[in-house]
Amino acid sequence: MVSNTCILLAFLLSPTILAVTVPNTPPPSAAVVDPSLLSVSIEFFTFPAYAQIAATSNCIANIATLRGAQPAIRIGGTTQDRATYDPTLSIAVDYTVASQADAPTTLTYGPPFITLASQQPGAVTLGLNRQLNNQSASLAAAKLAQKTMSNLFAFELGNEPEFYASDSPIIIAGGEGWNQDVDAASEKSWFGAFSPSASMRIAVSDDFLTMWVISSGIVSYTRQYQSEASAAHEAGIKYFLGETNSATCGGGGISSTFGAALWIVDYVLQGALNGVDRLYFHQGTISNCAYCFWGQSSIFTPYYGVAFVSEFLGTNGVKVAMLDDGSSAIGIYALYSSTNAPVRLLVVNTNYFNGTASKKDDGS
Ligand SMILES: *[C@@H]1O[C@H](CO)[C@@H](O)[C@H](O)[C@H]1NC(C)=O
Ligand SMILES: *[C@@H]1O[C@H](CO)[C@@H](O)[C@H](O)[C@H]1NC(C)=O
Repeated sequence: MVSNTCILLAFLLSPTILAVTVPNTPPPSAAVVDPSLLSVSIEFFTFPAYAQIAATSNCIANIATLRGAQPAIRIGGTTQDRATYDPTLSIAVDYTVASQADAPTTLTYGPPFITLASQQPGAVTLGLNRQLNNQSASLAAAKLAQKTMSNLFAFELGNEPEFYASDSPIIIAGGEGWNQDVDAASEKSWFGAFSPSASMRIAVSDDFLTMWVISSGIVSYTRQYQSEASAAHEAGIKYFLGETNSATCGGGGISSTFGAALWIVDYVLQGALNGVDRLYFHQGTISNCAYCFWGQSSIFTPYYGVAFVSEFLGTNGVKVAMLDDGSSAIGIYALYSSTNAPVRLLVVNTNYFNGTASKKDDGS
């Protein structure tokens, strides 16, 4: 439908002038924005440490204030599948590492871990170990969580199962090699074992489908989620990226740049446009993590993008539309309120200058 009261805007983006028509109601391509679209994933072994630094609560509270809704929290990652629940352990987590920068190869966690998880302000997805095939240990943790966490959203049974080593106990126990079908059967049998004792929502972590690939552009990269997301939505299921962050799966060398903040802005919005309901941005080892949003006592570059996109989405943004064709470095997004009125417009220029420049006399 052609609007007769559309907003016309022209941007001077040297050397071209860009004219943009902003529809006065959301176009058919507009996507609904989940209130917790930008959520947080915290690496399992280091979650108790994160839970006890002020940067964590402050940074999460800032996002919540800007969005008018709590970001959801997922506790998991590689070390979720190295962790064994010990109901007699009186501390949250127990492990030994040679250096503070390392992640433990084995660890135990106790009831205080679940207590810390219960104190998180947002809905929590708790990652449990499947890789070690110790179902009774993971089930004991699940039962305690189910009983004591009023903020519990879901359990995630196993992290990135496509990366399990061939000598992984769950693979040896299955005895049939490991592929998507064997993993699906394993997940199904674990669901069956867990469901009667803890009526629970279980998050499927199926990275066999969503494999990481590094591609050249954010638009084409996020488009790969579209078919999975629409299949999930047709089945009445939300589609989350349970652990994501950085354009290079680690972010070394690029995360401390202004470009990383711009990438967050574009990636979050492109995710929403392609049907991703939530992106859980991963936070790894404190102070040894290129892509992290914050550390022990500092805020890192990507968080500026987090704050910016959260402010753009605001407390009243419920639908987002892309107004450009996705083929250039200029991204143009319009945001609509619950009454279908346009409330904000964002133009993001991800073109980069590769070279050196000197500061001008006027300080610019
Ligand atoms: C499973 O975990 C429990 C602790 O919850 C531990 O006592 C037991 O030895 C573990 N079983 C295996 C086979 O590792
Ligand atoms: C930036 O410029 C240098 C020097 O010309 C070149 O070697 C490098 O590949 C360029 N980097 C990118 C990402 O284009």
